[in-house]
Amino acid sequence: LAQDAAAGKSSFNKCLACHAIGEGAKNKVGPVLNGLDGRKSGTVEGYNYSDANKNSGITWNKDVFLEYIKDPKAKIPATKMVFAGIKNEKEAGDLWAYVSSFDKD
Ligand code: HEM
Repeated sequence: LAQDAAAGKSSFNKCLACHAIGEGAKNKVGPVLNGLDGRKSGTVEGYNYSDANKNSGITWNKDVFLEYIKDPKAKIPATKMVFAGIKNEKEAGDLWAYVSSFDKD
């Protein structure tokens, strides 16, 4: 992992209670985050999303992820993701470097 992705891996500890990523990842409280880059919101198979997440019209990429993760409820008001967000921009960027390093399979 590049340096920023390595930092993002440790930041991802804040997500691990609800999200799995990497080989063999399964849906938990939240959906698997493999293959997030380029994925339409609300499309992980077998995961029961809120209508708000499903119908947000978002296609995940770096810009929209950064907007979302600093304040999830500002971006998707009725999301069922209960998480205050990552306010630090460097940390959020590192997190994206980590998360986006995992392809779908
Ligand atoms: C949804 C990222 C922390 C619970 C999502 C989505 C992303 C995401 C990108 C949308 C996925 C999609 O559309 O397929 C993250 C990241 C986190 C984090 C990067 C850490 C920084 C958490 C935590 C929880 C959580 C701590 C539980 C307390 C959920 C749930 C959803 C979700 C329940 C589905 C939302 C809905 O259907 O309304 N998360 N998350 N997440 N996340 Fe998180």
